[in-house]
Amino acid sequence: MIQVKGIHKQFGDNQVLKGIDVDFIPGKTNLIIGRSGSGKTVFLKTILGLYDPDQGSIHYGDEILGQMTKERRKLLRQELGMVFQGGALFDSMSVAANIRFPLDMFSNMTEHQKDERVSFVMDRVRLQGSGDMFPAEISGGMQKRVSIARAISMNPKYLFCDEPNSGLDPETAIVIDQLIQELTHEFNMTTIVNTHDMNSVLEIGDHVVFMKDGYKVWEGTNNEVLGSTNADVEEYVFKSKLFKQVRAALRK
Ligand SMILES: Nc1ncnc2c1ncn2[C@@H]1O[C@H](COP(=O)(O)OP(=O)(O)O)[C@@H](O)[C@H]1O
Ligand SMILES: [Mg+2]
Repeated sequence: MIQVKGIHKQFGDNQVLKGIDVDFIPGKTNLIIGRSGSGKTVFLKTILGLYDPDQGSIHYGDEILGQMTKERRKLLRQELGMVFQGGALFDSMSVAANIRFPLDMFSNMTEHQKDERVSFVMDRVRLQGSGDMFPAEISGGMQKRVSIARAISMNPKYLFCDEPNSGLDPETAIVIDQLIQELTHEFNMTTIVNTHDMNSVLEIGDHVVFMKDGYKVWEGTNNEVLGSTNADVEEYVFKSKLFKQVRAALRK
């Protein structure tokens, strides 16, 4: 299990994370939601070890990230899959080569084993037959699927996604969300997804953490969100008048 305890992080005099505690649930989709600028990306990067926290600790199972040896951190890195904002695909490489890249970098697999693994994950994200195409030739939704396939190629224990829906139309966004949810359950990963999309929260939020101004202000399941009386959650969820009217009608 990934646990964060009392995480603080500031840049200059901008205090971004102000003491956050979360236990991320293994085998589930854990969503971090909050407005743009609330500190989600900084939080995710801190959990990944890309930023050092000023205070607090990040626990991967029994181990504390800040106390791991370099060698151990390298091994941990291989257990982490990441889907970053914008996809971060290599434009000059084919779809198959993008997905194969972590296997070439980190695995001891034979070429044949790599071929099989690439083919397996491509099937799994429904990209069969697109291996020879280049990122510029495929749709935004397909690019996200390549990015997800690359992230799971090493069969990671932990999957991190930063705004995986950004730039997608709502229907494609739901397909991507559902794919992340399916893979999480199928491969029993601990998945952490940053989003500001309420649809994602309701659709796939096994465990939802609300962030505001560097604090965790609420956590619960997607089913609990709509009934929450937490003022910050209400403000976020029911910011549209229409949503408020629907809820008022439901409560009658
Ligand atoms: N590398 C950085 N250096 C300085 N300030 C940063 C850095 N990264 C993020 N910030 C600041 O941290 C705050 C939270 O940003 P971010 O985590 O990107 O929010 P979110 O992902 O919720 O939109 C913002 O005020 C941003 O300007
Ligand atoms: Mg962000």
